[in-house]
Amino acid sequence: MTDDNEHGFAKGLTNYGDRDFSLYLRKSFASSMGYSREMLAKRIVGIAYTPSGYNNCHRHFPEMLEAVKRGVLAAGALPIEFPTISLGEVFLNPTSLKFRNLMSMDTEEMIRAQPMDAVVLMGGCDKTVPAQLMGAASADVPAIQIVAGPMMTSRYGEERLGACTDCRRFWAKYRAGEIDGEEIAKVEMRLATTAGTCAVMGTASTMACLTEALGMSLPGTAAIPAVHADRLRAAEATGAAAVNLIASPIRPSQVITRKSVENALRVLLALGGSTNAIIHLTAVAGRLGIDIPLTWLNELSDTTPVLVNLKPVGKNYMEDFFFAGGMGAVLRELKPLLNLDCLTVTGDTLGERLEAPCDPVDRSVIASADKPLEPEGGLVALFGSLAPRGAILKRSAADRTLFEKDGRAVVFSSLEDLAKRIDDPDLDITADDFMVLQNAGPTSASGMPEAGYLPIPKKLSSKGLKDMVRISDARMSGTAFGTIVLHVTPEAAQGGPLALVETGDRIRLSVKNRSIDLLVDEAELERRRARFTPERRDPASLRGYDRLYAEQVLQADGGCDFSFLRPIESKQNRT
Ligand code: FES
Repeated sequence: MTDDNEHGFAKGLTNYGDRDFSLYLRKSFASSMGYSREMLAKRIVGIAYTPSGYNNCHRHFPEMLEAVKRGVLAAGALPIEFPTISLGEVFLNPTSLKFRNLMSMDTEEMIRAQPMDAVVLMGGCDKTVPAQLMGAASADVPAIQIVAGPMMTSRYGEERLGACTDCRRFWAKYRAGEIDGEEIAKVEMRLATTAGTCAVMGTASTMACLTEALGMSLPGTAAIPAVHADRLRAAEATGAAAVNLIASPIRPSQVITRKSVENALRVLLALGGSTNAIIHLTAVAGRLGIDIPLTWLNELSDTTPVLVNLKPVGKNYMEDFFFAGGMGAVLRELKPLLNLDCLTVTGDTLGERLEAPCDPVDRSVIASADKPLEPEGGLVALFGSLAPRGAILKRSAADRTLFEKDGRAVVFSSLEDLAKRIDDPDLDITADDFMVLQNAGPTSASGMPEAGYLPIPKKLSSKGLKDMVRISDARMSGTAFGTIVLHVTPEAAQGGPLALVETGDRIRLSVKNRSIDLLVDEAELERRRARFTPERRDPASLRGYDRLYAEQVLQADGGCDFSFLRPIESKQNRT
C-alpha cells in the first residue's frame, strides 16, 4: 500500500468510508488489467482519446495513441487512455457546435473523476480541441494538447484539391452549370483522401495554431500533417512532456491567461483564421473568467498584419504552411507584438521558446512582418443598430469593393425559407442587394449552423456573380469565403434587431467605421417589435440535452458556452 495519497491510483478514491479499503479494491481491479505492482505504483497520465467511426479526421488516432503512450512510459509514468465523445464535423445534426459543450463536460468530469496526475488531450476535428481545452481549463489538472494534424491534399486533373475550400469551389461551379453531375461525383471522391483535419486554414487548423500560441501544445506541432512521421514523434514528445508536467505542475489556469489569450487573438488575426475561432476562444477563456470583448479584437486587428497565404483566403494548404516554417515562423514575425512572458506547457516562456533558432522560411507562404499580405488583421468586429453586441466579418476573405455600401435587404426568415426560395427564378434579388438570414443563431432550432455562407441565388450565380453581402446570426465554416457578416448578436430568436428586418429595408455596411446599421426609423422598429413573436422553442417543451442547451446556451459574445459552466463570478450580464 502506498503512502502517497495524492498521486497515481491513490488519487480521488471511490468513497466506501474506508480509505485503505478503497485503495486496496482499486488496485486489485486495476491489477486485473495485467499491470505489475511496479506499474500500479507509478504516476498516471490520462489520455483523453477520441477516435470514432463517425470522425474521419481522427482515423489515425490508434497509431498516435501508441506514440503518446510510448512517450509516457519512457518518461517513467503509466499512460491510461479513456474515451470521451468525439465530434466528427459533418456527421452531426443539426450542427456539431451544439455538442461542443457536451464534449467539454464529458472531458472535464472524466479528468476530475478518474485518477490521473496529468492529462494528454487528443483532438483535432473542429469542435474537439475547443471542447477539450474548455474541459481541461475547468478541471485545471496539468494538461497538454496534441492535435490530429491536417490532411494532405489530393489532385483532380491539373488542380490540387483540399477539403474543404475546394469542396465549396467545385460546388459553386456545379451550381453555376460549369461542371456536370459526373464530374462533381469524381471530385467528391478526391477532396478528402487521408486521415487528419481539413487541409486549409479552417476552424480545426486555426484552433490547432491558437492552442500552440496559447502555450497548451508543444512548439511546432500545430501544422505537422496527420500522416507525417513527425506527427508520431510529436505525439511521443507530448507523452513525455505530460510526465514533466507532473514533476513541476503547470495548470491550464497558469497557461491560459489574459496575456496568452491576447497572443492567440494576434495569431488568429495574422493567420486570417476561422471566424469560429472567436467563439471557441471566447468559450475557452471564459472558463477561466477571461472575457473577450469584440472591441478588443478590433484594437488588436488595427495593429496585426496578415502574414499567412493559405486557403480559404490565399492559395496554399496546411502542408505548405508546415514546410514553410509553420507556427514557429509566424510567432517570430509577431514577436514584437506578443506577450513573451507567458508560461507554456514545457515550463518555458513563449519568449524562451522563440530564442531557439528557426529553419529557413518560405516567404511565399508566410510573409515577413515588414512585407505583410495585409497591414491589418483578417477579422473585424462590426457594431451598430443591426448588431448592438457585435458581428464578425472576415475581411481577408471578403470582396473589398463591397466594404462601404448601402443595400436593400432580401430577407429569409429561416433555413427552411432559404432552401425553399433561394433558386426560385422569380426571386426578386439583384447583385446589389444584401441577403439576410434570420433565426439561425445559438437558441434557434438550427443551433447556429455554418449556414452564414448563403449560396448565391442561381439566377445570379449562373451569370457569373461570385460574391454579395450576406448577413446572419449563423456561423460560417472556416473553409468558406465571401463578404459575409456573421454572429449578429443578439440573435433573431432572442428578439435582436435582426429579427425586425423586412425585405426592402436599407442596411448600411461600413468596414472602415466597423459598423452595420439598419436604416429604419425607431418608431417603425417599435411597431415591428410590438408584433414580434420569437421563433425559439420553449425549453419546457423539450427534454434531455435539448432542454439543457435551450436553457443554458449563451449568445456568440459568451462563446456559446453554457451559462452554468462559466466560473460563478463571471456569469453576470450574460444571456
Ligand atoms: Fe474534421 Fe474539417 S471535417 S476538420
